Amino acid sequence: MKKKNLIIFGTRPEAIKMAPLVKKFLQYPNKFETKVCITAQHREMLDQVLDFFKIKVDYDLDLMRADQNLYVLTSDIVTNLKPVLEDFEPDFVYVHGDTTTTMAASIAGFYSGAKVCHVEAGLRTFNKRSPFPEEVNRNIASCVSDYHFAPTKTSRDNLLNENIKESNVLVTGNTVIDALKYSIDIVNSDKFLDQEIELLKKTINVGKRLVLVTGHRRENHGQGFINICSALKEIAQTNKDIQIIYPVHLNPRVQEPVYNLLGSVENIHLIKPLSYPAFVWLMNKSYLILTDSGGVQEEAPSLGKPVLVMRDTTERPEALQVGTVLLVGTDKSKIIKETNRLLNSKSNYDTMSKLHNPYGDGKASERIVDYILNI
Ligand code: UD1
Ligand code: UDP
Repeated sequence: MKKKNLIIFGTRPEAIKMAPLVKKFLQYPNKFETKVCITAQHREMLDQVLDFFKIKVDYDLDLMRADQNLYVLTSDIVTNLKPVLEDFEPDFVYVHGDTTTTMAASIAGFYSGAKVCHVEAGLRTFNKRSPFPEEVNRNIASCVSDYHFAPTKTSRDNLLNENIKESNVLVTGNTVIDALKYSIDIVNSDKFLDQEIELLKKTINVGKRLVLVTGHRRENHGQGFINICSALKEIAQTNKDIQIIYPVHLNPRVQEPVYNLLGSVENIHLIKPLSYPAFVWLMNKSYLILTDSGGVQEEAPSLGKPVLVMRDTTERPEALQVGTVLLVGTDKSKIIKETNRLLNSKSNYDTMSKLHNPYGDGKASERIVDYILNI
């Protein structure tokens, strides 16, 4: 009897990190029947990833609403997953990380009686309001999951400290590295032609150092984004030898302050969210990265790019420990000070730009599939 897998995700980062697992399961058609369900908590930003990885979707709940709120999104996901779970009757439901899709799908999977498998399990800040609501989402997913795929030993230890049975936890590395390795090979191939990358080549001034920025966290909405933007403006105006490129997240709570405050600054380029290969290409070309993203914190150490994290907490202490990543919060003067230190001191820059690989070897999906094969 084939094991039935239902892989559920909804946002851009979940799709990037689940794509390698979907592809790996599909290599075993005699052992597994694998289906993909997207909540489409994100729409355009999710579809960009599905296109690149050529993921075929079996169930599309199409739930994104403009400026959606957590109450409606959560209840819509749980309610709309019921018929999917009743139709397919999976043995295993896979969720990823810490979004609202993760939390709601893990509960729906639990209600259905399937074994719930949590990929990227065990990340913690131990502060339930930061990141908000992700810290609580991942705690709920841990609570209802049967199998926990922890990216690092630190995340495994967090789970064991919560009395989760050791035999149900596997350290796998992070599937983001599987995705990154797959994409870098494609982006670097001579045959790969990408319109976005060609456009970026025309935008980038090769004589200037490139500072790449991303940001979207809910706890930074409002004053946090105002501080970030006014820091970026000052950095751009006082360092004429750099250019800032900022692919702006589609959330209107991000778009509005960013375009209002930075839309007319000379050496800041605001652009649409990039497809994954174009973003990987741009990370590789950048001198340093400022972000509040989780995934970017994991990718940048593998590319040897220093990252200033515009958050007060991180659930990813591994890159902090190896020194590629520094927390700067959303305090304007701290962002300016640490960015200038990296721009103006070669020795500071060299210390932070060493290649490190704390998040895996690109074989996380393979380990997860082997584990499920042997259950
Ligand atoms: C969500 C996740 C967050 C994750 C992030 C990755 C929650 C609560 N938040 O935050 O954990 O780090 O995704 O980016 O699960 N929008 C579009 N098109 C898109 C995507 C978003 O227009 O393709 C706009 C819509 O107006 C949408 C809004 O952004 O309502 C917010 O999307 P939502 O998924 O609720 O929050 P994010 O900030 O994207
Ligand atoms: N990313 C992308 N295009 C962009 C910006 C980011 O493909 O314009 C990728 C990035 O490489 C990383 C992921 O999106 O893998 C991070 O997503 P995000 O920051 O939205 O979410 P988080 O990781 O914070 O949950």
